[in-house]
Amino acid sequence: MMILKRGISTAIQSVRRLKSMLLTTYHRKFIQPKSWQKSPEYHSYLDLQLQRTILKKDSALPKRAIDMIDEVTQHINLTEHESMLCIGARNKAEIDYWRNLGAKNVIGIDLFSEDESVLVMDMHQMTFPDQQFDLIYSSHCLEHAYDIQQVVGEILRVSLPGAAVIIEVPIRYQTKGADLIDLGSCENLISLFGDHVNEVIFCGEEISTYGSFSVARTIFKLK
Ligand SMILES: C[S@@+](CC[C@H](N)C(=O)[O-])C[C@H]1O[C@@H](n2cnc3c(N)ncnc32)[C@H](O)[C@@H]1O
Repeated sequence: MMILKRGISTAIQSVRRLKSMLLTTYHRKFIQPKSWQKSPEYHSYLDLQLQRTILKKDSALPKRAIDMIDEVTQHINLTEHESMLCIGARNKAEIDYWRNLGAKNVIGIDLFSEDESVLVMDMHQMTFPDQQFDLIYSSHCLEHAYDIQQVVGEILRVSLPGAAVIIEVPIRYQTKGADLIDLGSCENLISLFGDHVNEVIFCGEEISTYGSFSVARTIFKLK
């Protein structure tokens, strides 16, 4: 009986892996990296991120993200913002949560999508025109960057002057697999944006109650 159960479990895992591989190959064609990104290393990077995303594509919005969003809305007045970008939304759940709180014109991006609320787009090379959003949000995504300064450059490019930026990343954790970057502190996170930061509204670090890692969370306004 035990052997049969183990066999079934191994077979299910193999089918899942195969499904994830096929979906990854299919969805990669929607991401068109710039020529500098077309290195084998960059392709491996995208595959790694995509595989993990596809395995988690139907996950509900985690309690960690719900608590963070609820806290953030105590510092940000959503009615003052006209257009919001969610980087690394994973699926529609994050977008819906913001919309239900009153955020206007919310759009997400991720490497994979099954809903029009989330556009398939690489955060290193967004296809939005300059100066599109006055609210940018990214929860647990920047640590997946291949080139974090390139991503910061894209955030700055698509932000309107005076836009508010909300970011949370894990810190002081063991990087592995798709988790590539440990920024170490909230100050380091903010310093990625250099002179473009006008006003820091919130900068905090805490041990996450949802896993064995700490998080850095910040809200700031751009110049
Ligand atoms: C840990 S999930 C975060 C999901 C959700 N925001 C949350 O807080 O739970 C990270 C997301 O970032 C996405 N991601 C990773 N690399 C990306 C890239 N280069 N461009 C866009 N999204 C990316 C992944 O596909 C994944 O859905």
